[in-house]
Amino acid sequence: MSFCESFTRESVTKSLMGDPIEEQWQVNSEAFAELIGGTGTPHHQEILVPCLDRMIGDVTGKDLLDAGCGEGYLSRRYAKKGASVTGVDISRKLIKLCNFHTIGNARYHVGNICALDESYESSFDIALCNLVLLNVPCLDDALKGFHRVLRENGILVFSVVHPAFNFYGPGTWEMGKKDPETRRRRGLFFKVDNYFDEHEYQRYWRTRQGEKFPVPISFFHRTISTYANAVVETGLDILEIDEPQPVSDDDFFDRERRIPFFMVVKAKKP
Ligand SMILES: C[S@@+](CC[C@H](N)C(=O)[O-])C[C@H]1O[C@@H](n2cnc3c(N)ncnc32)[C@H](O)[C@@H]1O
Repeated sequence: MSFCESFTRESVTKSLMGDPIEEQWQVNSEAFAELIGGTGTPHHQEILVPCLDRMIGDVTGKDLLDAGCGEGYLSRRYAKKGASVTGVDISRKLIKLCNFHTIGNARYHVGNICALDESYESSFDIALCNLVLLNVPCLDDALKGFHRVLRENGILVFSVVHPAFNFYGPGTWEMGKKDPETRRRRGLFFKVDNYFDEHEYQRYWRTRQGEKFPVPISFFHRTISTYANAVVETGLDILEIDEPQPVSDDDFFDRERRIPFFMVVKAKKP
């Protein structure tokens, strides 16, 4: 049974473990905004954003949905580049932050990507969903929603933490000894097990200062084929799948140069 089949439309924001997902993001919103720091973490800046920019292309005059916009750093980025942006997020506090820091042609609404507003029907040229689908139980409903709100030839670009190499999910790094010079431990190799076991798990994130978020966050492990087949079943054509590498050659990204940290998918509504 897929995650989607185990939820009714009314219960899509409930985590399988009983905590409402909405509440997790509401309670963690300040810590999350601090982690993002207004422009994204180094992983966003050096790995993900260059790939998103390339896949999304010129946004001038385009209508862009930022689905699960968080504190809005990508909404601001694409509004600044000339898009008309609609940011939607389940967390009221994060939407408040988006409105506080708004820039360019952008508006923000509290909403659920598992049941996107009916009024969005065929309204967008681009649907962007950055690092959100692994946090929702409703993959199929979310993708159907993106298909519905896109215009003909509109594109969907979404990213997830790479399903095969997610150290929060089915894998973990085997770490070596601490380097006396850098005081960092080198990752020796990555171990993966139970990749096919699709399940929900919860993890605490940490702020840049290393403090634990107030409550753990729900994640949904799915295989690469589950993501790809769900897109195809929705009627969207997959144009590209990327496993972007860091643009920086900084040692900080040693591990991310050896195995992919993210998976990014671009699809088109025919
Ligand atoms: C990892 S954050 C990514 C935020 C943003 N896209 C970014 O790149 O910074 C996941 C976001 O998804 C939001 N979210 C989780 N479930 C959602 C849902 N069902 N509908 C809308 N947003 C949701 C959370 O509130 C959070 O802001």
